[in-house]
Amino acid sequence: MPEGGTETAGNNADVAVADLTRDTATVELARLADILTEANAAYHRDDAPALTDADYDALKRRNAAIEARFPDLGREDSPSEQVGAAPAEGFGKIRHALPMLSLGNAFDAAEVADFDTRIRRYLDLEPDAPLAYVAEPKIDGLSLSLRYEHGALVHAATRGDGTVGEDVTANARTIADIPQTLTDAPDILEVRGEVYMSHADFAALNEARPGGRVFANPRNAAAGSLRQLDPAVTAARPLRFFAYAWGQVSEPLADTQLGAIDRLAALGFPTNPETARCDGPDALLARYADIAARRAELGYDIDGVVYKVDDLALQARLGFRSTTPRWAIAHKFPAETAWTRLLGIDIQVGRTGALSPVARLEPVTVGGVVVSNATLHNEDYIAGRGADGQPIRGSDLRIGDRVEIYRAGDVIPKVRDVDLTVRPAGTQPFVFPDTCPECGSPAPREPGESVRRCAGGLICPAQRVARLKHLVARGALDIDGLGDKEVERFHDLGWLREPADVFTLEARHGSGLQTVANLEGWGETSAANLFRAVAAARRQALPRVLFGLGIRHLGAAAARDLARHYLSWPEFAAAVDAAAPAARAHRAAEEAVLAERAAAQAEDRRARLAEVRTAQWACVPEAARAAWDELTGIDGIGSTLALAVCDALQAPQERAAIDALLAELDPAPPEATADASPVAGKTVVFTGTLEKMTRAEAKARAEALGAKVSGSVSARTDLVVAGPGAGSKAAKATELGIQTLDEDGWLALIAGA
Ligand code: IVH
Repeated sequence: MPEGGTETAGNNADVAVADLTRDTATVELARLADILTEANAAYHRDDAPALTDADYDALKRRNAAIEARFPDLGREDSPSEQVGAAPAEGFGKIRHALPMLSLGNAFDAAEVADFDTRIRRYLDLEPDAPLAYVAEPKIDGLSLSLRYEHGALVHAATRGDGTVGEDVTANARTIADIPQTLTDAPDILEVRGEVYMSHADFAALNEARPGGRVFANPRNAAAGSLRQLDPAVTAARPLRFFAYAWGQVSEPLADTQLGAIDRLAALGFPTNPETARCDGPDALLARYADIAARRAELGYDIDGVVYKVDDLALQARLGFRSTTPRWAIAHKFPAETAWTRLLGIDIQVGRTGALSPVARLEPVTVGGVVVSNATLHNEDYIAGRGADGQPIRGSDLRIGDRVEIYRAGDVIPKVRDVDLTVRPAGTQPFVFPDTCPECGSPAPREPGESVRRCAGGLICPAQRVARLKHLVARGALDIDGLGDKEVERFHDLGWLREPADVFTLEARHGSGLQTVANLEGWGETSAANLFRAVAAARRQALPRVLFGLGIRHLGAAAARDLARHYLSWPEFAAAVDAAAPAARAHRAAEEAVLAERAAAQAEDRRARLAEVRTAQWACVPEAARAAWDELTGIDGIGSTLALAVCDALQAPQERAAIDALLAELDPAPPEATADASPVAGKTVVFTGTLEKMTRAEAKARAEALGAKVSGSVSARTDLVVAGPGAGSKAAKATELGIQTLDEDGWLALIAGA
């Protein structure tokens, strides 16, 4: 969950069963289902019980009592349905041969136009050049990848985290829409698509459910039915499948998206009959309007329309960002809204110290989901001021107000509007705290920022715990058995305070293993498993370490970019240390410019920043400037991120914590470079005009081949690709004796790679 995120389940833990209303009972059942499902997983799957038996039983009894009082509120995933043996083990894992990605979103015509413009710019097409797309409904189910080898279905996997999914092969085999064997198919063929349930089947299924335990919506029903440990249960559920994409294929399916879909249909896969070619963005919008108008008659849930570039050669040129293709986008239907009452405002402190206000709401159903929390963004938002300082909503938000909640797809619900005509008498403006509610440290607003941040750093328990959770989570050190609950518990016991403690825990306690094993809810096996996972986590690739540090603005993609450039922690740390004086000068210049309120326009500010910085720059050693330029020259690394990285490594206490962590890790194995291409590991600079590809395409291609693309020429540059009009960069390359190629030379070099 992103920082300051909110869950949708509210907390009625202290309300007696007899005092629950229908609404609060719904929320409480959801909360209990969450807790008990997690407890089951912790006990059975992870061998690491999260609750004592007594607590577990008490929660189960409470769940049963609420279900007895409100028989029609029983949930599909009701913990009381899981009596008897809970699953002894979950699903096996399957690593996808090619990642299963998600889609970027567009919410209006302007964003669709931007999508088209971005693609044309990337491909260097004229605004009016023909460019065909395919539009198809975005099915609201769950995605599934089916792998066929020599015509036989060998496995089926859910999306999971996109890299590793759950093995649901036995269940997928029970779905009539999914062929078990194919004739005339490529030797290797991964077909991807959506498992869903039709409206009619969904209604009939709910009708027939015992005890009124209905599914909330077809999507939940489909997901719950596919993710059954007993395939016989899946077989009894009316699941359907639409194919709309593919993963690994041993030979191309066609030249176009539409052709590939036709080929999948010919192989026996159901494909969506609403799939249509559209020539340009206007045709896409017309198609969207048409499908939106017939949405209710389709017979199954859709939550938007997906647009894809039709020509597969262009798709290949466009490629992918870290998690989404450049050649496709989901045009989502408008968000759902509902009105309810604002009961309170809580302040959560996140990993980077940000104070995030969270609205506590009277539970309300928004688009099929019960919402009792919503984000309020920041202090200004509550006060009724937008990011630009201009008034929004015409009013501040006050506890007791009637507010409009808005939810788009999976995004965190937001408070969007307030009804002043029903504001109760005597309400007061909300006073946003200027100290941290967790540790009492000052929580100032940095100049130009809308967010207050706790200045306590690692002193603040909330920041400490959030950082520890982030460090051991998926994408970072990924330590099995050390989830959020365990981190909180070990932190509260005083066992985990700073990152390195994760690795010293075992030794610090004489026998840490025994100490953990003796904890209530733990045992020898689970403690041994935990420490095995901790030991394994000492060996980490650099991007995971960088990401795991939880530095502000440093996401997984930027961590990869930095790791690709610097290759090892010592190199990275030395470079950041070297750049520090320049970072300080840059910050001073930024602050000076911000203070000069006169330069209001962003354009002016940038020019003024350059001016002021030049003055500050004079006192910065040449080596520091070079290190800063190199850092900010890395594609994807802007000055904001560079400053945050420098800050994190220069603050003495933070640095000591980072160094202590690094001392516990084994030296990172060198980054796997793309199949030893001729440019793998090299730093390349593109300059001048490129004629056969756009700059963006050239960069993306070079990076895909394992090269680092930099914006400036330095002694570390390996190769300069200079097109016509190349100026000072090409000259500098010659001066430094760096290999320089023209565009054709570059293309020849990477041909076949
Ligand atoms: S294409 C690389 N097409 O939407 C792009 N996705 O938000 C692969 N989805 O995970 C996805 N209908 O589960 C595609 N016609 C459609 C879709 C569709 C539904 C789902 C899919 C995906 C999610 C992304």
